[in-house]
Amino acid sequence: MIELIEVCKTYQYGNEVTKALDNVNLTINDGELIAVIGNSGSGKSTLLNIIGCMDTMDSGKFLLNGKEVPQKKRNELHKIRKNNISFIFQNFALLNHYTVFENVEVPLLAKKVSKKERKNIIQEKLELMGIADLQNKLPTKISGGQQQRCAIARALASDNDIILGDEPTGALDSKTGDDIMKVLKSLHQMGKTIIIVTHNMEIAHQADRILKMEDGKITEY
Ligand SMILES: Nc1ncnc2c1ncn2[C@@H]1O[C@H](COP(=O)(O)OP(=O)(O)OP(=O)(O)O)[C@@H](O)[C@H]1O
Ligand SMILES: [Mg+2]
Repeated sequence: MIELIEVCKTYQYGNEVTKALDNVNLTINDGELIAVIGNSGSGKSTLLNIIGCMDTMDSGKFLLNGKEVPQKKRNELHKIRKNNISFIFQNFALLNHYTVFENVEVPLLAKKVSKKERKNIIQEKLELMGIADLQNKLPTKISGGQQQRCAIARALASDNDIILGDEPTGALDSKTGDDIMKVLKSLHQMGKTIIIVTHNMEIAHQADRILKMEDGKITEY
């Protein structure tokens, strides 16, 4: 279970202060499929980054399965992320000097999975995402949609209970976007907790719940 209690996050840029998260209270139960919508700049990525232990908040509490996620201890935060969170980034964040195969391998190396097992898992995830034939290519030599599939394969390789996707279908045509939703929905059926940011209402309506963000605040849609 994910619980955010009175979470605030502000960014300061020069004299301008932005409340990216303004006293957010949110509970997400295990196994929920959640869509987060809202205008650009409303705080969607900030919310996901904090839940994903990629960023820290200024005040408030974040409980993961009833345990407080320490905001000041970077090592512990990293460990919690590694063991609980699979993240699909808004800008893919692929390593450009690593091949598709090696990119998907990264979270498996972090988890010290054996070489043979790594190979099997990577093959399976690349096949699932339809890019097995591209495994020896560099991200800069494949299309944006293929890069996005690679980013998703990498997230799935870590096989954590919480999958966070910051516009995971953003760079894809609607048919491919549907394919990815099918993959996410099958993971949802396996009991994973999934939170995705999307600008696409057709995708949002496939979720159990839609959260709308406005100026750093969440309202149920
Ligand atoms: N590193 C940063 N420094 C300063 N301001 C930031 C930073 N990151 C985000 N912000 C600001 O915080 C607010 C929320 O940003 P966030 O990235 O969460 O929005 P978003 O809803 O994900 O938008 P988009 O749909 O464009 O991805 C915005 O006003 C943004 O400009
Ligand atoms: Mg964003």
